[in-house]
Amino acid sequence: FSLQVAPEVLPVPVPFLCLQPLVENAIKHGMRGRRGGGEVRVVVRDAGPEAHITVEDDGAGMDPECARRMLDGDPAREGGGIGLANVDLRMRQIYGDGYGLVVETALGAGTRVRLRVPKTQFTSL
Ligand SMILES: Nc1ncnc2c1ncn2[C@@H]1O[C@H](COP(=O)(O)OP(=O)(O)O)[C@@H](O)[C@H]1O
Ligand SMILES: [Mg+2]
Repeated sequence: FSLQVAPEVLPVPVPFLCLQPLVENAIKHGMRGRRGGGEVRVVVRDAGPEAHITVEDDGAGMDPECARRMLDGDPAREGGGIGLANVDLRMRQIYGDGYGLVVETALGAGTRVRLRVPKTQFTSL
């Protein structure tokens, strides 16, 4: 596990429970079946008016089409979990439609989830 946060963005508030489900997925799904373990990285970069966060693992990955459906679907759809869809929905509700999750993945090639957090102060995240 590695955590790399640019000092400039340490004060930026991140909406409640937006990172935990992504890190959980990286471990629970990404590392499934990997005896040797793997690496989970959380990186936060300073990007001017925004902080850019990536949560990535070098594990199982998934079908990108499947990832797209997770974000599109309503949380009650069959077989789907709630983590990705919920974080995506809340980011867009708070910051606007341009702020949904970006998932880069392929089977066997790990998963990288990106999110952008504006530095604007919000009183209730
Ligand atoms: N880091 C990851 N690596 C591999 N598969 C993932 C990863 N993150 C999510 N997934 C896939 O996307 C699905 C949906 O994730 P999520 O919405 O958090 O629901 P849940 O974790 O409850 O299944 C998971 O069931 C899994 O198949
Ligand atoms: Mg999950």
